[in-house]
Amino acid sequence: MALLPIIYAPDPRLKIKCRPVETVDQSVRDLTRDMLETMYAAPGIGLSAPQIGDTRRILVCDVTREGEDRQPIQLVNPEIVWSSDELYLAEEGCLSLPDHFAEIERPSEVRIRYLDQQGESQEMSADGLLAACVQHEMDHLEGILFVDYLSPLKRNIILRKMKKLKRQKEAA
Ligand code: NI
Repeated sequence: MALLPIIYAPDPRLKIKCRPVETVDQSVRDLTRDMLETMYAAPGIGLSAPQIGDTRRILVCDVTREGEDRQPIQLVNPEIVWSSDELYLAEEGCLSLPDHFAEIERPSEVRIRYLDQQGESQEMSADGLLAACVQHEMDHLEGILFVDYLSPLKRNIILRKMKKLKRQKEAA
């Protein structure tokens, strides 16, 4: 088990389109487990492979509240096969943009096809917070961050603050 360093925006590694996993092998299972551990430790409700510097299409999430039993979700090569016309507005944050939040509107319900940890094709439905979380993490696999949905003005304010934070961390 290992905690992985999380990449902060802006960073070119967060802007790449990730590649499909060909075989769900032990390296995929190890990475997925480490991603979950890193997400829980952060703490966060979702994490995608590019945020820890990997370019494979893998994401994890768990939207259960503190004190509830954990319900880890591990998706390899996730694809949205259906999404509702109805939209849901939720405040989103991101482990790559700590302390920044914005309201983002997305389909309120989605159906997702993915490979499980044995490499079997599965489908799941998600709504509400889980749907928002999975769509947010799937965006990461395309190199899209939640700030990309904001006006250039709002996005630049956040990214400028992030650059300053990164400079402070490097200097420390
Ligand atoms: Ni994120």
